[in-house]
Amino acid sequence: MNGNPTPVMIDTDPGVDDFIAILMAIRSSELDLLGLTTVGGNTSLENATLNALRTVEIEGRPDIPVAIGAAAGRTRPFEYADHFHGETGLAMALPAPGIEPLEIPAVAWLAQTLAQHSNTITLLPVGPVTNIARLIEEHPEAANQIDRMIVMGGAVDCPGNATDYAEFNTWNDPEAAEIVFGAGINTTLIGLDVCNQVAFTREIISDGAGPGRLMMDAWFAEHPDSEEFHLCDPLAVAVAIDPTLVRTESISVAVDTSGGPERGNTMRGGDGPPIDVALEVDVERAVRLISGLAL
Ligand code: RIB
Ligand code: CA
Repeated sequence: MNGNPTPVMIDTDPGVDDFIAILMAIRSSELDLLGLTTVGGNTSLENATLNALRTVEIEGRPDIPVAIGAAAGRTRPFEYADHFHGETGLAMALPAPGIEPLEIPAVAWLAQTLAQHSNTITLLPVGPVTNIARLIEEHPEAANQIDRMIVMGGAVDCPGNATDYAEFNTWNDPEAAEIVFGAGINTTLIGLDVCNQVAFTREIISDGAGPGRLMMDAWFAEHPDSEEFHLCDPLAVAVAIDPTLVRTESISVAVDTSGGPERGNTMRGGDGPPIDVALEVDVERAVRLISGLAL
């Protein structure tokens, strides 16, 4: 760190773990959250946008802009995860937001903001990367001004969570993931290979007191048989704060876009440029960082 906070933008489908990730980004003195762009995935785009607005508002940061993105993937509707995140996208209902999203659509706002902060922004896509693929296609000059992209998605050397083959975000828009992974942007991939190891338990959250603790209490109450809540999106933010939390390998990642049963599978290989795939994580330090900011 050079002492100045890193400007970040989060593309998000809140989503309980997205909620925790956004809390971290707002609260960390290492990051300057320039704004959120929303995408469907965990829940509908409407719910995701309301939840993003609610999150910045309950954190006392109604100044953080929220821009609305894609309601569906490039070639198919999103398949939501109500069973995991809840019908509204969050385990704990938050008060109706008193603020509105930007008029400007997500992709145009991303392009505009990247042009204003050339080569300094870390972009954190933590949902289906539909908006990011459109940014690359429609505003290549802006995409080239991304300093670093930390993508939560994929499962390279491990099974998926949406299917045996695919992680939820790449499963929900494999075609977008193929474009994003192949764009040649300085990319770190935070997939299930590492985030399966980083989780909250009922014991870990017991020390918390704020909205993050309340949200996790609500999630565990809705999932009495679950012992762990995996911190996928929060780990992506944690790596933006401290890149030493993970060990990465430079790998070209291929995405199954066949539309068949292995759709969204992410594999070593393909002819795209290599990206930095996180394969190991310092679990204790990661959980400590996430807990310290979000609970
Ligand atoms: O597979 C985990 C990812 O899918 C996380 O981003 C979670 O929020 C869901 O979107
Ligand atoms: Ca997410």
